[in-house]
Amino acid sequence: MKLGFIGTGALSAAIVTGLKTLPGDTTAVILSPRNETIAAGLAARFSDITIAADNQAVLDASDMVMLGVRPQIARDVLADLRFRPDHHVVSLIATFSRDEIAAMVGPVHRVTKALPMPMIAIRKGPTILFPPDADVAAFFGRLGKAIEVESESEFDALSVATATYASYFKYLETIHGWLSHNGVDGGRARDYVASLFAALGQAPETTPDASFAHLAADYATRGGINEQVLRELTEHGTFERFRESLGDIHKRITAAP
Ligand SMILES: NC(=O)c1ccc[n+]([C@@H]2O[C@H](COP(=O)([O-])OP(=O)(O)OC[C@H]3O[C@@H](n4cnc5c(N)ncnc54)[C@H](OP(=O)(O)O)[C@@H]3O)[C@@H](O)[C@H]2O)c1
Repeated sequence: MKLGFIGTGALSAAIVTGLKTLPGDTTAVILSPRNETIAAGLAARFSDITIAADNQAVLDASDMVMLGVRPQIARDVLADLRFRPDHHVVSLIATFSRDEIAAMVGPVHRVTKALPMPMIAIRKGPTILFPPDADVAAFFGRLGKAIEVESESEFDALSVATATYASYFKYLETIHGWLSHNGVDGGRARDYVASLFAALGQAPETTPDASFAHLAADYATRGGINEQVLRELTEHGTFERFRESLGDIHKRITAAP
């Protein structure tokens, strides 16, 4: 496969890094010259990477093309390009629907929306795909986990979960800050929290039949300290407010542009 990228920014770099650190990968990757520093860094670090002279040269050398530009400029950038009907376009642009992208890439029949996360650089984490596509699922499956969905409304609802990363780290920071203020060495507190939550993060995948509600109940021993924190946060409305925020994000994601 010849894989092109229009827009070589943070997310494209993460995908290329995940791909090119796969043992034995020989995929030919063609990068757009912007961002110059990121493209040059990837080409210096990995084999089978070329930097095209311009965006059209990326298309001309590629079978599959990932769109990694920001939404604000996507329409203008794509309007200048001549796509072939046999191109397979994979849009990483979060805010445009599949149909909107299809309208911007002219004769292309095969258009897939993909939402990877930055951890794809170390081949961890899920990529949501719409519509289901065996080749794109195989590609992202090698770089973590591919989750194909049948409808764009399901894609949009799943993408709401990606709005929670910062709050998750704030949760960990709150624990870390409390530990530091209570006599625990900062580095040791960080090691402890990082290792603890890496281990807890394994629980849903190692017990795939357990619901999240079941896991919460399992860890909340009656009369115990987990039960107390869970009860107090629940009584303060923390989770209800969190659910409302998710609803607000969903409205924002699905609002007409
Ligand atoms: N980062 C994420 O975690 C994430 C997650 C989900 C979806 N996305 C989506 O992925 C897309 C890229 O996000 P990002 O975080 O990678 O953004 P980014 O780091 O800003 O990358 C965008 C890249 O596009 C380049 N660019 C600007 N004008 C261009 C042109 N005319 N032709 C080709 N490339 C051009 C920019 O180069 P210069 O630096 O030279 O301007 C920049 O390197 C966005 O649409 C975003 O919605 C990102």
